[in-house]
Amino acid sequence: MADKVRVGVLISGRGSNLEALADYKRKADPAYEIVVVASNVPEARGLVLAKRFDIPTWAQSHKGVKRAEFDALVDAELRRSGVEVIALAGYMRLLSPEFIHGWNHRILNIHPSLLPDYKGLDTHQRALMGGEEYAGCSVHVVTEELDDGPVIAQARVRVQARDTAETLAQRVLVEEHKLYPAALDAFCRKLLADRAAS
Ligand code: GAR
Repeated sequence: MADKVRVGVLISGRGSNLEALADYKRKADPAYEIVVVASNVPEARGLVLAKRFDIPTWAQSHKGVKRAEFDALVDAELRRSGVEVIALAGYMRLLSPEFIHGWNHRILNIHPSLLPDYKGLDTHQRALMGGEEYAGCSVHVVTEELDDGPVIAQARVRVQARDTAETLAQRVLVEEHKLYPAALDAFCRKLLADRAAS
């Protein structure tokens, strides 16, 4: 695909979803290209992965910086890189309302639960405690409320009798890696189509 949406990925840690997003171009011809990976954790493993994919990175610790000020730094970097859509991939920091407004429904997030169930942390443990038959993951558009906003894609995983939070998390993560690239691709494809039609 010639015309691609410029995506910035925000991470805080391991970066396995970033890897899946970056690797997708080996399997498909996505409507997106990742132009920058930014992190609030300079030692995040995902930054090493980004370099392996030749994606420019930006990192600065948020410690000691007010939330709105830190978000303004991230915002400036994303805009400098010509980002059009943001993909949160294990970005474990709440974004300020100013930042979210500034991106006008162009921020996606992946969350390891079947939203609207189990927002927040420890999703797998809580799903097990809740006696759920299914767990899973959701991709949603980010709004000001935590893990809220329209869900655009979901994948379900059946909970097994002997599951621990770790075994369940592993099986859900396999689904995350399939779901997120496909959902981001579809989102960007629609953006390009809407643009062409206007
Ligand atoms: C993923 O499971 C993602 O769904 C979750 O953090 C993990 C990051 O892993 N995100 C959240 O819980 C956001 N609320 P990764 O760094 O290997 O992609």
